[in-house]
Amino acid sequence: MGSFFSTQSDENEYPDYDYVPPHEILVTPSQIEEIVTDLADRVSGNYAESNGLVLVCVLKGAVPFMTDLSRKIEVAHEVRYITAKSYLGTESTGTVDVKYTEPLNVAGKDVIIVDDIVDTGLTLKTLVQKIKDEENPRSVACCTLLEKGKHDDKVYVEYVGISIEDKFVFGYGLDVDEKYRHLPYIAAMVDGDDSSDSSDSSDSD
Ligand code: IMP
Ligand code: MG
Repeated sequence: MGSFFSTQSDENEYPDYDYVPPHEILVTPSQIEEIVTDLADRVSGNYAESNGLVLVCVLKGAVPFMTDLSRKIEVAHEVRYITAKSYLGTESTGTVDVKYTEPLNVAGKDVIIVDDIVDTGLTLKTLVQKIKDEENPRSVACCTLLEKGKHDDKVYVEYVGISIEDKFVFGYGLDVDEKYRHLPYIAAMVDGDDSSDSSDSSDSD
């Protein structure tokens, strides 16, 4: 029996989100559940001997993923949050704006940076470099739910949930101009309407 907060569900259990523009579901809630369980098992195995594992969640998109992942990891760990923004609407700006929400305090610890998706790899590359340069951690690894696969030369992502086609996606934390983060699945707009009304304003993170 799935708990109230679990993403595990029958694929038809979520509402009909008819206020969201026409979209296709790329990764279902039950697939997400399976992927997160698998990643958590790998992390639990690889960090069984760690003297201090810290998950660093990249706000805001990685929040549901990091929360589910953390609850499934079976070794002691702490969590931190950091903000990184690189998108304007559905386009990468080519620069990453990083903000600390709190001191990371990860000196001597094993860090896993947890993000929703790796695309060009610029966000994770920037965060890995910054944490290595400024925090003196024992190790730094990366974990993402999704990858689009263009990041080969930029950053190594040890823990990847699933590779997806090169479309702008949303749901399960990922937004289109701050909307649709609450959807329990990963989706993309259909009919070539993947920019929605987002060619303008806010940053996606
Ligand atoms: P990268 O720096 O090019 O690897 O892009 C990674 C960051 O951009 C992620 O942390 C996301 O916040 C954002 N991003 C990339 N692709 C998407 C997408 O398809 N939907 C929503 N956000 C995205
Ligand atoms: Mg982000």
